[in-house]
Amino acid sequence: MADPLLETLTSKAASARQTGIRNLFAEDPSRFKTFSASTSRLLLDYSKTSIDTESLSALFDFARARQIEQKRDAMFAGERINATENRSVLHVALRAEPADGYRADGEPVSAEVMDVLTAMANFSTKVRNGEIAGSNGDLITDVVNIGIGGSDLGPVMATLALAPYHDGPRTHFVSNVDGAHMADTLKGLEPRSTLFIIASKTFTTIETMTNAATARRWIVATLGEAAVGDHFAAVSTALDKVNDFGIGQERTFGFWEWVGGRYSIWSAIGLPLMLAIGPENFRAFLAGAREIDQHFKSAPLEKNLPVLLGLVGYWHRALMHYPTRAIIPYDQRLSRFPAYLQQLDMESNGKGVGLDGKPVVISGPVVWGEPGTNGQHAFFQLIHQGTDVIPVEFLVGATAHESSEMSVHQDLLLANCLAQSEALMKGRTLEEATRQLLDAGRSEEDAAQIAPHRVFSGDRPSLTILYSTLDPATLGSLIALYEHRVFVEAQLFGINAFDQWGVELGKELATNLLPIVTGETAATSRDGSTQGLVAAIQTMRKA
Ligand code: F6P
Repeated sequence: MADPLLETLTSKAASARQTGIRNLFAEDPSRFKTFSASTSRLLLDYSKTSIDTESLSALFDFARARQIEQKRDAMFAGERINATENRSVLHVALRAEPADGYRADGEPVSAEVMDVLTAMANFSTKVRNGEIAGSNGDLITDVVNIGIGGSDLGPVMATLALAPYHDGPRTHFVSNVDGAHMADTLKGLEPRSTLFIIASKTFTTIETMTNAATARRWIVATLGEAAVGDHFAAVSTALDKVNDFGIGQERTFGFWEWVGGRYSIWSAIGLPLMLAIGPENFRAFLAGAREIDQHFKSAPLEKNLPVLLGLVGYWHRALMHYPTRAIIPYDQRLSRFPAYLQQLDMESNGKGVGLDGKPVVISGPVVWGEPGTNGQHAFFQLIHQGTDVIPVEFLVGATAHESSEMSVHQDLLLANCLAQSEALMKGRTLEEATRQLLDAGRSEEDAAQIAPHRVFSGDRPSLTILYSTLDPATLGSLIALYEHRVFVEAQLFGINAFDQWGVELGKELATNLLPIVTGETAATSRDGSTQGLVAAIQTMRKA
């Protein structure tokens, strides 16, 4: 049966296509006031989208009908909202204060969370000050995190983002099972001053276990078997498996089933970040995330940043039918933020079946991006003039960490960011393009020929998230904002954002294919393409 609220939204989207964003600004130059909202750290401007007051109000009606508030409250209450895995979803408890009183299945979780945080802080402090040293007493100068997916992307992204706060050991990240990743990372490192963190929720992920075994051999080859205990630490929910690897309890940092991999940066998975920036900055990072949790829980939907960001996302994906969204941080230190969001968003909302077990009408968009201004000189051509409309999400800081002698850099960065969103929205008409050419002294004939190539359709949507400076608390807020946005969109799509069954098949097939690649088993049972590729691999390997 047709949903009348969806029908209203569909007709609003159809008229939005006709009106265009430029006209919305012509009708109401003060749109920014209506279509922006902020927390103490983040300002969201979504005025350069095709949403008007009527469509916004219809979106709120739809969100309420989809019970956004009740579902949010169920998550915060520790209910088992991850129905397909029968788990609570409580990453918010990792950045909470004890008084927040989070419970999973009715059991308080704060004491356990605080214990792990304290253990991480003690360990980090001692590694940073040399009290915990290598097996020969050497200061740990380099930490290598071995993990993949949620056990890698969060720490990598956040460690890069907070580079100005680094005063601990250098951090490196190995994720890919491609031996090149490990080999290139180990080049230049000394076993005696290197600490490995094996980060894996399950402690079974083949990439991580293979890399961990290689790291272990590297340590043992130089320092001997007895050194393993001093050069490894682990982060996992599978404490027995960590023990089997030979890592002591005092260097094992646990977390819980109710923390999804892609939501785990706040847990012990954040250990490499804490080692780099220190426990105090790490706590500020958690506090910044908690600010968004409190805001998400209590702000009215109309002023609620995660809700607004989710509604804009839903508008673009489900109603305007834009297949992708570009995340463009005008902040070089957020260079891995798009990659981080790819897992957060696409592993969460890239589902074909809804919570009701039926096929979903539409799932989340493709998420991609690169920092500006670099993207401008690469793919922005297509965003401005290509045949697909790609909503862009700009992120930018008002101020930078760099010294005042470099202030021109930040001014240019900001000017470029604002210029891109303005150009996308306003575009350039044929008349304007022709006039420019004539004013530049081109002939009428030339102008007529060239002007169509210089037309920008405009009416291309973007939103901007502005913050003061990328400090630990702001980064925490930014990540938490996107986490809750994914949650909001999931409710609108009718998707369980917290499972990831879609990654299983490839894993199973890889296990089956390993003996075929090594030549132990014949490829005859595989499809024709796979057989052909296996034969070619074997020929190349013999050559
Ligand atoms: O790719 C699937 C996945 O399960 C992700 O969800 C997860 O972040 C990643 O693998 C790593 O898992 P683990 O931390 O258990 O090694």
